[in-house]
Amino acid sequence: DLSARCRAAVAVVSALSAVALAACVPGPGAVRGGQGAAGLRDPLFPKLGNGGYDVQHYGLDLDYDPASGHLAGTAEITARATQDLSAFHLDFRGLTVADVTVDGRPASANRAGGELTVRPRRDIREGDRFRTVVRYSGVPETVTDADGSREGWLRSDGAALAVGEPAGSASWFPGNHHPSDKATYAVTVSVPRGLRAVAGGEPRAPRTEGRRTVQSWRSTEPMAGHLAVLAIGELRVETVHTPSGLPVVTAVSPEAEERAEPLLRRIPELLAWCEERFGPYPFSSAGAIVVPSGDLEYALETQSRPVFPLDRFDEPTLLHELAHQWFGNSVSPARWSDIWLNEGFATYAEWLWQADAGGPSVADRFVEAYGDDGNWAFPPAEPPGPAELFAPPVYGRGAMVLHRLRAVLGDEEFFALLRGWAAEHRHGTASTADFTAYAERRSGRELSQVWDAWLFGRGRPPLTD
Ligand code: ARG
Ligand code: ZN
Repeated sequence: DLSARCRAAVAVVSALSAVALAACVPGPGAVRGGQGAAGLRDPLFPKLGNGGYDVQHYGLDLDYDPASGHLAGTAEITARATQDLSAFHLDFRGLTVADVTVDGRPASANRAGGELTVRPRRDIREGDRFRTVVRYSGVPETVTDADGSREGWLRSDGAALAVGEPAGSASWFPGNHHPSDKATYAVTVSVPRGLRAVAGGEPRAPRTEGRRTVQSWRSTEPMAGHLAVLAIGELRVETVHTPSGLPVVTAVSPEAEERAEPLLRRIPELLAWCEERFGPYPFSSAGAIVVPSGDLEYALETQSRPVFPLDRFDEPTLLHELAHQWFGNSVSPARWSDIWLNEGFATYAEWLWQADAGGPSVADRFVEAYGDDGNWAFPPAEPPGPAELFAPPVYGRGAMVLHRLRAVLGDEEFFALLRGWAAEHRHGTASTADFTAYAERRSGRELSQVWDAWLFGRGRPPLTD
């Protein structure tokens, strides 16, 4: 098939560039570091992320021209080497690289597929912190995912939206784009006066310099690359504060404003509900971005500032994306196949919320999901490929796992477990095995029957197993 052929072609190209790099003889006095791996061998996305270093901070300085769609960027990436490195990879797609420096010295750069290979003038030693600066420009690419949805850089008349779950962030900045490498971010964006640029985190006041407006955003808690968002357009931006003083920054396009406004105002109330069930909100600000229907096919939990197309901006979806701030963002998946830890939990949060709001009971939702054949295509902890990352079993059957767990543990223990899980891995990453081990350790029970039947089993178990 085509994608297999593409993968084979990419493999050949990267093998050739590896040979070319290996032919370079290290200069006098250089330590003979290895080359950082081109991917983290994620079973579903083997080339995503890179080995040999751990990013601490991204400083992105961007300049966007909506008329031409041209983006000019400087990415400053501060990382710590986890092995001796003579070369390392960054995930980066499409855009043209003007130059790369490492610790202020020019470095050589090679492109192949979605990989940018950087060879610094001097080897980097394990444990060292190093700063890579990449200058780049061009028209960023829209990526079509295995499931047919679009991500990366999305354009619509005069506006742009950057989203990256699972692999679109490489369209607009180079990085270690696997959820297991989280970092803090500072994003500064220059746009034509009259437009706004909104990212996650906390804003600095925008300044207008001549015909441009420049605005900076800081995410001071660690964030996975796929959770970075950038919305550019004629946005109405507003900040309110929750009773405890958390800033809630909302941005909405003028076409969506009137219809979105009533629900946007309820964010503090929904957050308070989440905090009661899941524990303290994990980030220094909250909010939402609402864009016109059609600009995006799905809502996305981008960190601290989820994004919604207007036709998906409803109460259950808002609650779902807010719940992801605990489950998916603060606790992010170790591998993409652990995605049910995001989607199953956020779906269960929706069930809980709707029951509280006078909708169907959670037990009814469970029975409904149980009866839906779509939820039984595969076990939630084992999505077969990238096209099934956001398929029904990950959501519906993932939520069923939690409901069965609740039946075994009882309400008190179950809700303490949800809060404990969010606290234990706050701002970290976690796998399915971490979850099952945590649940058993905390409850002092052997729970393999729940895992075998609901999390890993191929068939549909009896309703009450
Ligand atoms: N994580 C999103 C949610 O809250 C869905 C993302 C879908 N992305 C995609 N590329 N299909 O459910
Ligand atoms: Zn979700």
